[in-house]
Amino acid sequence: MPREDLFTPIHNAMRSVIYDTGRDLQTTDFTDREATQKVCSKMEKDIKRGLSSCMLCYLSSHAEDESTKVFNVMRSYEPEMVDMLLKEHEEIEREIDQVMQISDQLKQLSDSEERILKGKELNRVANNLFGYYITHMNKEEVTILPATQKYLTDEQLAAIRTSIVRDKPPDQAAKEVGWVIRSMNINEMRDVLLGMKKTMPPPAFEGMLKLAEQNLGKEKWETFKPKLGLE
Ligand SMILES: [Fe+2]
Repeated sequence: MPREDLFTPIHNAMRSVIYDTGRDLQTTDFTDREATQKVCSKMEKDIKRGLSSCMLCYLSSHAEDESTKVFNVMRSYEPEMVDMLLKEHEEIEREIDQVMQISDQLKQLSDSEERILKGKELNRVANNLFGYYITHMNKEEVTILPATQKYLTDEQLAAIRTSIVRDKPPDQAAKEVGWVIRSMNINEMRDVLLGMKKTMPPPAFEGMLKLAEQNLGKEKWETFKPKLGLE
């Protein structure tokens, strides 16, 4: 039975957020105000507007979840590792703010040539953030992930995951879980769902299966389901 993994599934969701946002940014005509507004609204970190249009919110809130729910527990076992990763979270927040600033500046410009130039700058700072974020997640997967599995039991890890999901507004939690589900292959999904089946109360687990069906679509879910070994 694979160990509980607090990092890889959610990191793959964050990678999907980054890939989707990166493609949107590099294909936007920044002389088109409406198209610019649409992509720039994803660069605002205003979680109240709803996560579906706030990609930077995902990146920020995920780092915050790790800092407050995982790193604080791990500090007594691996203080230097935790400090190193927390410093990187601070750098992530700085880079997120920088992307937001450039995005705000772009929306104010009226001259087409200036908008195109600012759009290139927006792509550049966003790619800096995305590159840093992806490298950071890769690093976590070879440092803090094995450390959590070394020092904590599967029950403790599952309890941390539950508290991360439980402490979010339900709508936000469902959207984040949706990104996770849509970013997994069938083998990862089997491991995650089998782990959840062991640790979650049956009604909560049923809710998770419903979310999986909603996010994958009925047809894909029907082909996945028999291979998940959940019966
Ligand atoms: Fe992190």
